[in-house]
Amino acid sequence: MKNKLPGKIKVGIIFGGKSAEHEVSLQSAKNVIDALDKNKYEIVLIGIDKTGKWFLNDESQFLLNMGDPQLIKLNNENSDEVTLAPESKGTLITKIKEKSVKSIDVAFPILHGPFGEDGTIQGMLKLAGIPFVGAGVLGSAVGMDKEVTKRLLRDAGIKIGKFLTIRENHIPDFNNIVQDIGLPFFVKPANMGSSVGISKVNSEEEFSTAIEEAFKYDRKILLEEFIKGREIECSVLGNENPVASVPGEIISNHDFYSYEAKYIDENGAALEIPAKLSGEMIYKIQEASINVFKTLECEGLARVDFFVTNENEIYVNEINTMPGFTKISMYPKLWEASGVTYSDLIDNLIELAIERYESELRLKTTFK
Ligand SMILES: Nc1ncnc2c1ncn2[C@@H]1O[C@H](COP(=O)(O)OP(=O)(O)O)[C@@H](O)[C@H]1O
Ligand SMILES: [Mg+2]
Repeated sequence: MKNKLPGKIKVGIIFGGKSAEHEVSLQSAKNVIDALDKNKYEIVLIGIDKTGKWFLNDESQFLLNMGDPQLIKLNNENSDEVTLAPESKGTLITKIKEKSVKSIDVAFPILHGPFGEDGTIQGMLKLAGIPFVGAGVLGSAVGMDKEVTKRLLRDAGIKIGKFLTIRENHIPDFNNIVQDIGLPFFVKPANMGSSVGISKVNSEEEFSTAIEEAFKYDRKILLEEFIKGREIECSVLGNENPVASVPGEIISNHDFYSYEAKYIDENGAALEIPAKLSGEMIYKIQEASINVFKTLECEGLARVDFFVTNENEIYVNEINTMPGFTKISMYPKLWEASGVTYSDLIDNLIELAIERYESELRLKTTFK
Protein backbone atom coordinates (compact mmCIF):
# COMPACT_ATOMS: atom_id res chain seq x y z
CA MET A 1 0.00 0.00 0.00
CA LYS A 2 1.44 3.33 -1.02
CA ASN A 3 -0.65 5.77 0.99
CA LYS A 4 1.14 8.71 2.52
CA LEU A 5 -0.53 8.72 5.92
CA PRO A 6 1.92 8.30 8.78
CA GLY A 7 1.39 5.64 11.45
CA LYS A 8 -1.74 3.59 11.67
CA ILE A 9 -4.65 4.47 9.45
CA LYS A 10 -7.66 5.48 11.52
CA VAL A 11 -10.67 3.80 9.93
CA GLY A 12 -14.08 5.07 10.93
CA ILE A 13 -16.56 2.22 10.61
CA ILE A 14 -20.00 3.77 10.25
CA PHE A 15 -22.71 1.18 10.72
CA GLY A 16 -26.26 0.42 11.86
CA GLY A 17 -28.42 3.21 10.53
CA LYS A 18 -31.99 4.28 10.00
CA SER A 19 -32.87 1.37 7.75
CA ALA A 20 -34.70 -1.92 7.43
CA GLU A 21 -31.24 -3.43 7.01
CA HIS A 22 -29.90 -2.12 10.35
CA GLU A 23 -29.23 -5.61 11.73
CA VAL A 24 -27.49 -6.82 8.57
CA SER A 25 -25.24 -3.80 8.85
CA LEU A 26 -24.34 -4.66 12.46
CA GLN A 27 -23.30 -8.16 11.39
CA SER A 28 -21.26 -6.79 8.48
CA ALA A 29 -19.55 -4.24 10.73
CA LYS A 30 -18.63 -6.92 13.26
CA ASN A 31 -17.04 -9.07 10.54
CA VAL A 32 -15.15 -6.13 9.00
CA ILE A 33 -13.80 -5.05 12.41
CA ASP A 34 -12.62 -8.59 13.17
CA ALA A 35 -10.86 -8.82 9.81
CA LEU A 36 -9.08 -5.45 9.89
CA ASP A 37 -5.35 -5.79 10.54
CA LYS A 38 -4.90 -4.07 13.92
CA ASN A 39 -1.19 -3.47 13.22
CA LYS A 40 -2.13 -1.36 10.28
CA TYR A 41 -5.44 0.17 11.26
CA GLU A 42 -6.85 1.91 14.30
CA ILE A 43 -10.59 1.37 14.43
CA VAL A 44 -13.08 4.05 15.36
CA LEU A 45 -16.65 2.82 15.66
CA ILE A 46 -19.52 5.09 14.79
CA GLY A 47 -22.84 3.34 15.37
CA ILE A 48 -25.99 4.96 14.01
CA ASP A 49 -29.15 4.06 15.88
CA LYS A 50 -32.53 3.48 14.27
CA THR A 51 -33.52 7.12 14.71
CA GLY A 52 -30.42 8.23 12.82
CA LYS A 53 -28.30 9.47 15.75
CA TRP A 54 -24.57 8.84 15.69
CA PHE A 55 -22.68 7.40 18.65
CA LEU A 56 -19.00 6.84 19.25
CA ASN A 57 -18.91 3.20 20.29
CA ASP A 58 -16.50 1.21 22.32
CA GLU A 59 -15.29 -1.88 20.47
CA SER A 60 -15.59 -4.13 23.50
CA GLN A 61 -19.29 -3.54 24.11
CA PHE A 62 -20.94 -2.06 21.08
CA LEU A 63 -23.16 -5.00 20.27
CA LEU A 64 -25.73 -6.83 22.33
CA ASN A 65 -26.92 -10.38 21.55
CA MET A 66 -24.09 -10.79 19.10
CA GLY A 67 -24.63 -14.45 18.32
CA ASP A 68 -28.24 -14.00 17.26
CA PRO A 69 -28.96 -12.34 13.89
CA GLN A 70 -32.57 -11.65 14.95
CA LEU A 71 -31.80 -10.05 18.32
CA ILE A 72 -28.47 -8.40 17.59
CA LYS A 73 -28.67 -4.83 18.86
CA LEU A 74 -26.56 -1.71 19.10
CA ASN A 75 -25.46 -0.77 22.62
CA ASN A 76 -25.26 3.00 23.03
CA GLU A 77 -25.14 3.13 26.79
CA ASN A 78 -22.26 5.34 27.97
CA SER A 79 -21.52 6.33 24.36
CA ASP A 80 -21.08 9.95 23.28
CA GLU A 81 -23.38 11.24 20.57
CA VAL A 82 -21.12 12.60 17.85
CA THR A 83 -21.24 14.37 14.50
CA LEU A 84 -18.97 15.39 11.62
CA ALA A 85 -18.68 19.03 10.62
CA PRO A 86 -17.94 20.35 7.10
CA GLU A 87 -14.20 20.50 6.44
CA SER A 88 -13.52 18.99 9.83
CA LYS A 89 -11.12 16.61 8.10
CA GLY A 90 -12.62 13.72 9.96
CA THR A 91 -12.67 15.21 13.43
CA LEU A 92 -15.67 13.90 15.33
CA ILE A 93 -17.36 16.38 17.60
CA THR A 94 -19.54 15.42 20.53
CA LYS A 95 -22.91 17.05 20.28
CA ILE A 96 -23.20 17.65 23.99
CA LYS A 97 -19.81 19.04 24.93
CA GLU A 98 -19.05 20.49 21.48
CA LYS A 99 -15.46 19.41 21.56
CA SER A 100 -13.34 17.14 19.40
CA VAL A 101 -13.16 13.61 20.71
CA LYS A 102 -11.68 11.51 17.94
CA SER A 103 -10.54 11.76 14.39
CA ILE A 104 -10.58 9.41 11.41
CA ASP A 105 -8.49 9.24 8.22
CA VAL A 106 -10.90 7.23 6.14
CA ALA A 107 -14.54 6.25 6.55
CA PHE A 108 -16.03 2.87 5.79
CA PRO A 109 -19.80 3.37 5.67
CA ILE A 110 -21.27 -0.11 6.04
CA LEU A 111 -24.84 1.03 5.68
CA HIS A 112 -27.62 -0.22 3.47
CA GLY A 113 -30.69 1.32 1.89
CA PRO A 114 -31.89 4.92 2.11
CA PHE A 115 -29.58 7.21 4.20
CA GLY A 116 -26.79 4.66 3.79
CA GLU A 117 -26.16 3.80 0.19
CA ASP A 118 -28.16 6.53 -1.53
CA GLY A 119 -25.57 9.31 -1.59
CA THR A 120 -26.71 11.12 1.55
CA ILE A 121 -23.97 9.93 3.90
CA GLN A 122 -21.53 10.02 0.99
CA GLY A 123 -22.32 13.74 0.60
CA MET A 124 -21.72 14.33 4.28
CA LEU A 125 -18.38 12.51 4.18
CA LYS A 126 -17.40 14.51 1.13
CA LEU A 127 -18.22 17.77 2.89
CA ALA A 128 -16.24 16.61 5.89
CA GLY A 129 -13.23 16.25 3.60
CA ILE A 130 -12.33 12.62 4.23
CA PRO A 131 -11.85 9.64 1.95
CA PHE A 132 -14.57 7.00 2.15
CA VAL A 133 -15.08 3.48 0.85
CA GLY A 134 -17.51 2.88 -2.00
CA ALA A 135 -19.38 4.83 -4.62
CA GLY A 136 -19.55 8.61 -4.42
CA VAL A 137 -22.67 10.75 -4.23
CA LEU A 138 -23.78 10.24 -7.83
CA GLY A 139 -23.08 6.52 -8.14
CA SER A 140 -24.75 5.85 -4.79
CA ALA A 141 -27.84 7.89 -5.61
CA VAL A 142 -28.19 6.35 -9.06
CA GLY A 143 -27.69 2.81 -7.76
CA MET A 144 -30.31 3.31 -5.06
CA ASP A 145 -33.00 4.39 -7.50
CA LYS A 146 -34.05 1.37 -9.53
CA GLU A 147 -35.85 3.51 -12.09
CA VAL A 148 -32.95 5.89 -12.79
CA THR A 149 -30.68 2.82 -12.90
CA LYS A 150 -32.88 1.25 -15.56
CA ARG A 151 -33.09 4.42 -17.64
CA LEU A 152 -29.30 4.73 -17.73
CA LEU A 153 -28.82 1.04 -18.55
CA ARG A 154 -31.41 1.24 -21.33
CA ASP A 155 -29.62 4.30 -22.72
CA ALA A 156 -26.35 2.36 -22.74
CA GLY A 157 -27.96 -0.50 -24.66
CA ILE A 158 -27.69 -2.91 -21.71
CA LYS A 159 -30.46 -5.49 -21.64
CA ILE A 160 -33.16 -4.97 -18.99
CA GLY A 161 -36.76 -6.17 -18.72
CA LYS A 162 -39.75 -4.02 -19.66
CA PHE A 163 -40.88 -1.68 -16.90
CA LEU A 164 -43.38 1.07 -16.09
CA THR A 165 -43.00 3.81 -13.50
CA ILE A 166 -45.99 4.95 -11.50
CA ARG A 167 -46.63 7.64 -8.93
CA GLU A 168 -49.51 7.91 -6.50
CA ASN A 169 -51.42 10.50 -8.48
CA HIS A 170 -51.70 8.30 -11.56
CA ILE A 171 -52.28 4.56 -11.42
CA PRO A 172 -52.73 3.04 -14.89
CA ASP A 173 -55.47 0.58 -15.69
CA PHE A 174 -54.60 -3.03 -14.81
CA ASN A 175 -55.45 -4.34 -18.30
CA ASN A 176 -53.21 -1.75 -19.95
CA ILE A 177 -50.36 -2.76 -17.66
CA VAL A 178 -50.82 -6.43 -18.52
CA GLN A 179 -50.84 -5.54 -22.21
CA ASP A 180 -47.52 -3.68 -21.79
CA ILE A 181 -45.55 -5.97 -19.49
CA GLY A 182 -47.53 -9.20 -19.27
CA LEU A 183 -48.68 -11.21 -16.25
CA PRO A 184 -47.40 -11.99 -13.66
CA PHE A 185 -45.40 -8.83 -13.05
CA PHE A 186 -43.40 -7.37 -10.17
CA VAL A 187 -44.24 -4.29 -8.13
CA LYS A 188 -41.46 -2.60 -6.17
CA PRO A 189 -40.61 0.70 -4.50
CA ALA A 190 -38.01 2.57 -6.58
CA ASN A 191 -35.70 3.19 -3.63
CA MET A 192 -35.51 0.22 -1.29
CA GLY A 193 -33.60 -2.96 -0.67
CA SER A 194 -33.86 -6.38 0.99
CA SER A 195 -37.02 -7.07 -1.03
CA VAL A 196 -38.96 -4.73 1.28
CA GLY A 197 -42.27 -3.68 -0.30
CA ILE A 198 -41.85 -6.03 -3.29
CA SER A 199 -44.67 -8.25 -4.60
CA LYS A 200 -45.25 -10.58 -7.48
CA VAL A 201 -48.67 -9.83 -8.92
CA ASN A 202 -50.81 -12.55 -10.52
CA SER A 203 -54.23 -10.84 -10.59
CA GLU A 204 -56.02 -7.48 -10.39
CA GLU A 205 -56.82 -8.07 -6.69
CA GLU A 206 -53.19 -8.71 -5.91
CA PHE A 207 -52.29 -5.58 -7.83
CA SER A 208 -54.16 -3.22 -5.48
CA THR A 209 -52.60 -4.82 -2.38
CA ALA A 210 -49.18 -4.74 -4.03
CA ILE A 211 -49.22 -1.06 -4.92
CA GLU A 212 -50.56 -0.13 -1.51
CA GLU A 213 -47.66 -2.01 0.06
CA ALA A 214 -45.02 -0.52 -2.27
CA PHE A 215 -46.30 3.04 -1.77
CA LYS A 216 -45.66 2.67 1.96
CA TYR A 217 -41.96 2.87 1.19
CA ASP A 218 -41.69 5.23 -1.75
CA ARG A 219 -43.66 7.78 -3.74
CA LYS A 220 -42.34 6.23 -6.96
CA ILE A 221 -42.84 2.56 -7.75
CA LEU A 222 -41.86 0.26 -10.59
CA LEU A 223 -43.91 -2.34 -12.38
CA GLU A 224 -41.64 -4.86 -14.03
CA GLU A 225 -42.05 -7.65 -16.51
CA PHE A 226 -41.51 -11.00 -14.77
CA ILE A 227 -38.24 -12.45 -16.01
CA LYS A 228 -38.15 -16.20 -15.59
CA GLY A 229 -34.56 -17.13 -15.01
CA ARG A 230 -31.70 -18.00 -12.69
CA GLU A 231 -30.49 -15.25 -10.35
CA ILE A 232 -26.82 -14.67 -11.00
CA GLU A 233 -24.72 -12.11 -9.13
CA CYS A 234 -21.25 -10.73 -9.77
CA SER A 235 -18.92 -8.63 -7.58
CA VAL A 236 -17.04 -5.67 -8.99
CA LEU A 237 -14.05 -3.92 -7.40
CA GLY A 238 -12.08 -0.87 -8.48
CA ASN A 239 -12.27 2.78 -9.48
CA GLU A 240 -11.40 3.66 -13.10
CA ASN A 241 -10.35 0.11 -13.98
CA PRO A 242 -12.79 -2.16 -12.18
CA VAL A 243 -12.47 -5.95 -12.19
CA ALA A 244 -15.20 -8.58 -11.85
CA SER A 245 -15.26 -11.72 -9.71
CA VAL A 246 -16.52 -15.14 -10.68
CA PRO A 247 -20.36 -15.06 -10.74
CA GLY A 248 -22.47 -16.76 -8.08
CA GLU A 249 -26.05 -17.96 -8.02
CA ILE A 250 -28.91 -17.44 -5.59
CA ILE A 251 -31.13 -20.48 -5.46
CA SER A 252 -34.28 -19.42 -3.64
CA ASN A 253 -36.73 -21.87 -2.14
CA HIS A 254 -39.51 -19.31 -2.15
CA ASP A 255 -41.65 -18.01 -5.02
CA PHE A 256 -39.01 -15.28 -5.37
CA TYR A 257 -36.05 -14.01 -3.33
CA SER A 258 -38.22 -12.22 -0.76
CA TYR A 259 -37.38 -10.67 2.62
CA GLU A 260 -38.35 -13.99 4.26
CA ALA A 261 -36.09 -15.95 1.94
CA LYS A 262 -33.23 -13.54 2.59
CA TYR A 263 -33.33 -13.11 6.35
CA ILE A 264 -36.04 -15.06 8.14
CA ASP A 265 -36.14 -18.56 6.70
CA GLU A 266 -32.82 -20.24 7.42
CA ASN A 267 -33.32 -22.48 4.40
CA GLY A 268 -34.85 -19.70 2.31
CA ALA A 269 -32.07 -19.66 -0.22
CA ALA A 270 -28.72 -21.16 -1.01
CA LEU A 271 -25.71 -19.46 -2.54
CA GLU A 272 -23.92 -21.41 -5.22
CA ILE A 273 -20.38 -20.14 -5.57
CA PRO A 274 -19.20 -20.13 -8.24
CA ALA A 275 -22.38 -20.44 -10.29
CA LYS A 276 -22.51 -23.38 -12.67
CA LEU A 277 -22.13 -21.57 -15.98
CA SER A 278 -20.16 -22.11 -19.16
CA GLY A 279 -16.88 -20.26 -19.62
CA GLU A 280 -18.53 -18.14 -22.26
CA MET A 281 -21.42 -17.14 -19.99
CA ILE A 282 -19.03 -16.33 -17.13
CA TYR A 283 -17.11 -14.03 -19.42
CA LYS A 284 -20.31 -12.35 -20.67
CA ILE A 285 -21.55 -11.76 -17.14
CA GLN A 286 -18.24 -10.32 -16.00
CA GLU A 287 -18.10 -8.04 -19.01
CA ALA A 288 -21.70 -6.92 -18.43
CA SER A 289 -20.98 -6.31 -14.73
CA ILE A 290 -18.09 -3.98 -15.50
CA ASN A 291 -20.16 -2.24 -18.15
CA VAL A 292 -23.02 -1.70 -15.67
CA PHE A 293 -20.59 -0.49 -12.97
CA LYS A 294 -19.10 2.11 -15.30
CA THR A 295 -22.43 3.14 -16.83
CA LEU A 296 -23.85 3.85 -13.38
CA GLU A 297 -20.80 5.91 -12.28
CA CYS A 298 -19.83 3.47 -9.53
CA GLU A 299 -16.58 3.47 -7.60
CA GLY A 300 -14.99 1.13 -5.08
CA LEU A 301 -17.36 -1.79 -4.98
CA ALA A 302 -20.72 -3.00 -6.18
CA ARG A 303 -22.60 -6.22 -6.75
CA VAL A 304 -24.45 -6.50 -10.05
CA ASP A 305 -27.47 -8.81 -10.11
CA PHE A 306 -28.81 -10.54 -13.21
CA PHE A 307 -31.49 -12.88 -14.43
CA VAL A 308 -30.24 -15.50 -16.88
CA THR A 309 -32.98 -17.23 -18.88
CA ASN A 310 -33.07 -20.77 -20.27
CA GLU A 311 -32.11 -19.27 -23.63
CA ASN A 312 -28.98 -17.78 -22.00
CA GLU A 313 -30.27 -14.25 -22.29
CA ILE A 314 -28.73 -11.96 -19.67
CA TYR A 315 -30.96 -9.30 -18.10
CA VAL A 316 -29.65 -6.86 -15.50
CA ASN A 317 -31.91 -6.70 -12.44
CA GLU A 318 -30.16 -4.21 -10.19
CA ILE A 319 -26.92 -2.96 -8.69
CA ASN A 320 -26.05 -2.77 -5.00
CA THR A 321 -23.38 -0.16 -4.24
CA MET A 322 -22.99 -1.33 -0.63
CA PRO A 323 -23.83 -5.01 -0.77
CA GLY A 324 -24.08 -7.21 2.30
CA PHE A 325 -20.61 -7.49 3.76
CA THR A 326 -20.87 -10.25 6.35
CA LYS A 327 -18.34 -13.03 5.92
CA ILE A 328 -21.04 -15.24 4.45
CA SER A 329 -22.45 -12.58 2.14
CA MET A 330 -22.31 -13.01 -1.63
CA TYR A 331 -20.03 -10.02 -2.28
CA PRO A 332 -16.98 -11.12 -0.23
CA LYS A 333 -17.67 -14.82 -0.93
CA LEU A 334 -17.39 -14.23 -4.66
CA TRP A 335 -14.04 -12.52 -4.14
CA GLU A 336 -12.84 -15.37 -1.98
CA ALA A 337 -13.74 -17.77 -4.79
CA SER A 338 -11.77 -15.49 -7.12
CA GLY A 339 -8.66 -15.60 -4.90
CA VAL A 340 -9.10 -12.43 -2.82
CA THR A 341 -9.43 -13.06 0.94
CA TYR A 342 -11.89 -11.11 3.09
CA SER A 343 -9.16 -9.05 4.75
CA ASP A 344 -7.33 -8.38 1.48
CA LEU A 345 -10.64 -7.19 0.08
CA ILE A 346 -11.04 -4.70 2.94
CA ASP A 347 -7.45 -3.52 2.44
CA ASN A 348 -8.17 -3.02 -1.23
CA LEU A 349 -11.33 -1.03 -0.55
CA ILE A 350 -9.57 1.31 1.87
CA GLU A 351 -6.76 1.79 -0.62
CA LEU A 352 -9.26 2.59 -3.37
CA ALA A 353 -10.97 5.14 -1.10
CA ILE A 354 -7.70 6.95 -0.41
CA GLU A 355 -6.65 6.77 -4.04
CA ARG A 356 -9.89 8.41 -5.22
CA TYR A 357 -9.69 11.09 -2.53
CA GLU A 358 -6.15 11.96 -3.56
CA SER A 359 -7.05 12.14 -7.22
CA GLU A 360 -9.95 14.47 -6.39
CA LEU A 361 -7.64 16.68 -4.32
CA ARG A 362 -5.66 17.36 -7.47
CA LEU A 363 -8.69 19.03 -9.07
CA LYS A 364 -8.83 22.80 -8.99
CA THR A 365 -11.60 24.34 -6.90
CA THR A 366 -11.10 27.90 -8.11
CA PHE A 367 -10.94 29.43 -11.58
CA LYS A 368 -8.83 32.45 -12.42
N1 LIG B 1 -38.65 -8.45 -12.86
C1 LIG B 1 -38.46 -9.51 -12.08
N2 LIG B 1 -38.61 -10.76 -12.56
C2 LIG B 1 -38.43 -11.85 -11.78
N3 LIG B 1 -38.12 -11.77 -10.47
C3 LIG B 1 -37.95 -10.55 -9.92
C4 LIG B 1 -38.10 -9.36 -10.71
N4 LIG B 1 -37.86 -8.31 -9.90
C5 LIG B 1 -37.56 -8.81 -8.68
N5 LIG B 1 -37.63 -10.16 -8.67
C6 LIG B 1 -37.40 -11.02 -7.50
O1 LIG B 1 -37.47 -10.22 -6.32
C7 LIG B 1 -36.21 -10.16 -5.67
C8 LIG B 1 -35.97 -8.78 -5.10
O2 LIG B 1 -36.01 -7.81 -6.11
P1 LIG B 1 -34.85 -6.74 -6.30
O3 LIG B 1 -35.23 -5.87 -7.45
O4 LIG B 1 -33.55 -7.44 -6.40
O5 LIG B 1 -34.96 -5.87 -4.98
P2 LIG B 1 -33.97 -5.66 -3.73
O6 LIG B 1 -33.24 -4.40 -4.02
O7 LIG B 1 -34.90 -5.49 -2.58
O8 LIG B 1 -33.08 -6.84 -3.64
C9 LIG B 1 -35.22 -10.60 -6.73
O9 LIG B 1 -34.05 -11.12 -6.13
C10 LIG B 1 -36.03 -11.62 -7.50
O10 LIG B 1 -36.12 -12.85 -6.79
MG1 LIG C 1 -31.91 -7.63 -5.12
